[in-house]
Amino acid sequence: MDKILIRGNGALNGTIPISGAKNAALPLMIASLLTRDALTLENMPRLADVDALISILSNHGVDYRVHGKRAGDDAMTGRRIEFQAREIVDTTAPYDLVRKMRASFWVIGPLLARAGIAKVSLPGGCAIGTRPIDLFIDGLEALGAQIDVEGGYVNAKAPSGGLKGGHYVFPKVSVGATHVLLMAASLAQGDTTIENAAREPEVVDLANCLSAMGAKISGIGTSTLRISGVSSLHGARHEVLPDRIETGTFAACVAMTGGDVLLKGARASLLEAALDSLKSTGAEVETGNDGIRIRRNGNELQPINVTTDPYPGFPTDLQAQFMALATKAKGVSHITETIFENRFMHVQELARLGANIDVSGQTATVTGVDKLSGAPVMATDLRASMSLVIAGLVADGVTEVNRVYHLDRGFELLEDKLSAVGANIERITGG
Ligand code: UD1
Repeated sequence: MDKILIRGNGALNGTIPISGAKNAALPLMIASLLTRDALTLENMPRLADVDALISILSNHGVDYRVHGKRAGDDAMTGRRIEFQAREIVDTTAPYDLVRKMRASFWVIGPLLARAGIAKVSLPGGCAIGTRPIDLFIDGLEALGAQIDVEGGYVNAKAPSGGLKGGHYVFPKVSVGATHVLLMAASLAQGDTTIENAAREPEVVDLANCLSAMGAKISGIGTSTLRISGVSSLHGARHEVLPDRIETGTFAACVAMTGGDVLLKGARASLLEAALDSLKSTGAEVETGNDGIRIRRNGNELQPINVTTDPYPGFPTDLQAQFMALATKAKGVSHITETIFENRFMHVQELARLGANIDVSGQTATVTGVDKLSGAPVMATDLRASMSLVIAGLVADGVTEVNRVYHLDRGFELLEDKLSAVGANIERITGG
């Protein structure tokens, strides 16, 4: 299994290009199931999760074509991939494919809307909580679907004549269930209203792409989405928005090490809450047309108080990275996780590097230490893995991050991007 070795060696300086967002790319790819025409996605990141979803979609009958490089492209330029589902050849998403990534469960929406039937394995994904599917079931039932769960599979059937418009009020904000209802309602008969919908930028990106495919959606970016169903959608070309989690992660790296780095292509409006927290650590944040510039020169890191919340709140996907930052702050930070109940698994790994963290219920109290020391640590989930990399960037000696397949799921060319700005980071393959 691969591992990553990091030797803490001071400030980062230069430019890091920001990739297309994983969490937008995945639902956009799934949206290709909604039409027989081609959906061309630009700025697609090279990630294990994208490859895994390609296998799942192929199983349902989606052909894909990766376009070659164009003039001006370099190794880090996002790819252009065309997806085309002329026919849905299989409406079952089997356990072996779905268990690796929770988002693959989302095929249930388009399969049901276009083929009228879907049998999808209960999902897997990061072990960051129980992650139930009740909201998907209730939401799809509001569109007339009949659903039962048996033998590890969700069996869903649309009424004869297809899904019907409906009204669903989310009792709790769910990104995935909002994606699924949006896709399903786009091809339902009649009007659908979704209240307390997720407002995450990736939901907006999906809604914009669906609109380009002919869907009739209003209220995009708000918590009330209104969809007038259409009988068919057509092909479109859509550019995946920049990854706000990758942006916040590299911003935390620079705040941690000090230095001056331009996050090229990053969009500040996508992560204002996180950038505000970053500023409160003493880092400087400057936004411009070409991206976001992060600087910290000499001054000490200040402690932070962070509570995760649905967008536009502080993203749970940056909680671990900001906790890493807090381990070196001059004082006591408080970090509260409200989205997932088991998302502090990085705490014990950070403690192995010398961090002082005390968890009580949903809140971690982090008392900054002067020094972290490299040690072997285990990546436990996708975002948590990055907290270990961030700590490793300033730890004395060598930090060895094991189980890096988690990182490969969501961070494109991680070692290349960090080495290019001066980090001492390398991947050891195999072993
Ligand atoms: C997505 C993101 C993930 C991010 C999360 C929250 C992708 C591929 N993944 O995950 O990176 O951390 O949003 O921003 O985009 N819930 C239920 N019942 C359900 C569905 C969800 O109780 O049927 C709960 C979950 O357990 C969790 C909360 O709702 O506590 C939010 O989860 P949700 O927004 O659905 O997360 P994902 O879409 O899985």
